[in-house]
Amino acid sequence: HKIAVLISGGGSNLQSIIDNIETGYLKCSIEAVISDREGAYGIERAKAFGIKTYVLDRKLYGEKLSDEIYKILKDKVDLIVLAGFLSILKGALLREFKNRIINIHPSLIPSFCGKGMYGMKVHEKAIEYGVKFSGCTVHFVDDDTDTGPIILQRVVPVYSFDTPKSLQERVLREEHRALPDAIRYIIKGAVTVKGRNVIINDMQP
Ligand code: GRF
Repeated sequence: HKIAVLISGGGSNLQSIIDNIETGYLKCSIEAVISDREGAYGIERAKAFGIKTYVLDRKLYGEKLSDEIYKILKDKVDLIVLAGFLSILKGALLREFKNRIINIHPSLIPSFCGKGMYGMKVHEKAIEYGVKFSGCTVHFVDDDTDTGPIILQRVVPVYSFDTPKSLQERVLREEHRALPDAIRYIIKGAVTVKGRNVIINDMQP
């Protein structure tokens, strides 16, 4: 199985995928890491692992970003993983990779998601609202933001003394397990989509 990982920042989720490939938990190869902005530390993580990297500055590419990514990845990978990727994808890329692009979001969708809801903002809103649990969601990417069929979710408690930072750290620890798990199920062919429902046949050896 060949995958590409798209990033915009630190790449701790990318690092988790790399680590899980190294341990053999994930039987796949990362053919490319693409960042939509300069200076993303995740690019350094990819280079350290010998992965081909591309920096497509979203300010330069604008509306052409998705087509450029499609040009790079078409016929090259089976699965595209958005790991802290902040641009909205559209056009041929979404059509040709239907149900083959996944994203991880740091909340229990449909709470605290959608346009502008990313990074620390998500945790600020969760604490402000006073939820007792939050978590992360891995979902297929469709033509809207954080709305595609949900593959898996992991839950974490929210404590009264939590700050957005302490909550982010707790959620990120779960993300670093949830994303590799979702990729592993997909690689094993254990995931089927029926409308909005994703069925995981995790009885396979
Ligand atoms: C984090 O907020 C994570 O929840 C979300 O993107 C942000 C950056 O993650 N998926 P990473 O460290 O760049 O993987």
